[in-house]
Amino acid sequence: MNLGFIGTGHITTSVIEGIFKSKLKFNKVYISPRNKLIAKKLSKRFKKIYISNNNQQLVDNSHWIFLAITPKVGKKILRLLNFKKKKKIISFISTIKLKDLKKLTKSRNITRVIPLPFIGMRKGPIIISPIDKQSKNFFNHLGTTLEINDEKLSKGFWSTSSFMASFYNLISVTSEWLISKGIKKKEAEKYVRELFYALSADTLNKKDISLKQLVKVSQTPGGTNAFVLKNLKKNKFYQAQRKALNSIFKKF
Ligand SMILES: NC(=O)c1ccc[n+]([C@@H]2O[C@H](COP(=O)([O-])OP(=O)(O)OC[C@H]3O[C@@H](n4cnc5c(N)ncnc54)[C@H](OP(=O)(O)O)[C@@H]3O)[C@@H](O)[C@H]2O)c1
Repeated sequence: MNLGFIGTGHITTSVIEGIFKSKLKFNKVYISPRNKLIAKKLSKRFKKIYISNNNQQLVDNSHWIFLAITPKVGKKILRLLNFKKKKKIISFISTIKLKDLKKLTKSRNITRVIPLPFIGMRKGPIIISPIDKQSKNFFNHLGTTLEINDEKLSKGFWSTSSFMASFYNLISVTSEWLISKGIKKKEAEKYVRELFYALSADTLNKKDISLKQLVKVSQTPGGTNAFVLKNLKKNKFYQAQRKALNSIFKKF
C-alpha cells in the first residue's frame, strides 16, 4: 500500500514520524512538494518517502490519501483533483465537513480524523469520524483511537484539541512563578515538566475512578490543594475555561 500526504506541514511531519516508528506495513509514502523545506527534510530522514511533482501525481500514486492542508487551501485545490473511486481519503482538515469534502473530491470514501502532534511519539487520542474499521486498524498503531459516528459530536473534540497552547501556558506560568521566587530557570522548568507529566500519567493510572472523584481525593479538606482550587474557582478561572471552549466550539 502507498500512502500520500497533500500538505507537508506540522501535522504531516508528526503523522509520518509516528508511521515510521510503528509496525505499519506500507510500500511508499508520497508527499507533496509544499512545504519545500519540510518535504526535503522528510525525504532525507526516511528512505521510503518520495516527493511528488504535484498533487495529482500524488493522488494517482497513492492508495490512501491524507489531506493535511488548511481549510482555505482545501476548498481551493480539492475540486481540481481527480480521486478515483477506490482511493481512500483521510481528512485532517479542521473545518471542512464530510458532506463538503464529498462534494469537493467527488468521492464517498472519506473519513475525518483528528490527530495531534503527539502522534509522532505514537501517543495521545485520535478521533475517527464516522466509524471506519480500516482507519481504526491503521491509527491504532499511532495512538489511542476513539470512533465517533455522528460527525457533529466530533466538534467537541476539535474544540478540546485547541487546548494545547493554554495547557503549556499553565506550565510556563507555574515555572515563571517559581523563578520569581528565586529558583533557577533550569530547575524550575525541570520541576514543572516532571510535575505536570506525573499529574497527566496519574489520571491514566487511575482510570477506574472518575475525574470528579480524582479532584476530590487529591485534596485534604482545609489543605493546600483545597485552598488553591477554591481560590481559582473564586476567581472564575474555570468559568473562563468553559467560556473559551464555548467560543472555539462555534468555529467548528
Ligand atoms: N497541527 C495540528 O496539530 C493539527 C491537528 C489536527 C488537524 N490539523 C489540521 O491539519 C491541517 C494542516 O495543519 P498543519 O498544522 O499541518 O498546517 P501547516 O503546517 O501550515 O501545513 C499546511 C501545509 O499545506 C501546504 N500547502 C499549501 N498550499 C498547498 C497546495 N496547494 N498543495 C499542497 N500543499 C499545500 C503548506 O505548504 P507551504 O508552507 O508551502 O504553504 C504546508 O506545508 C489543517 O487543516 C489543520 O486544521 C492540524
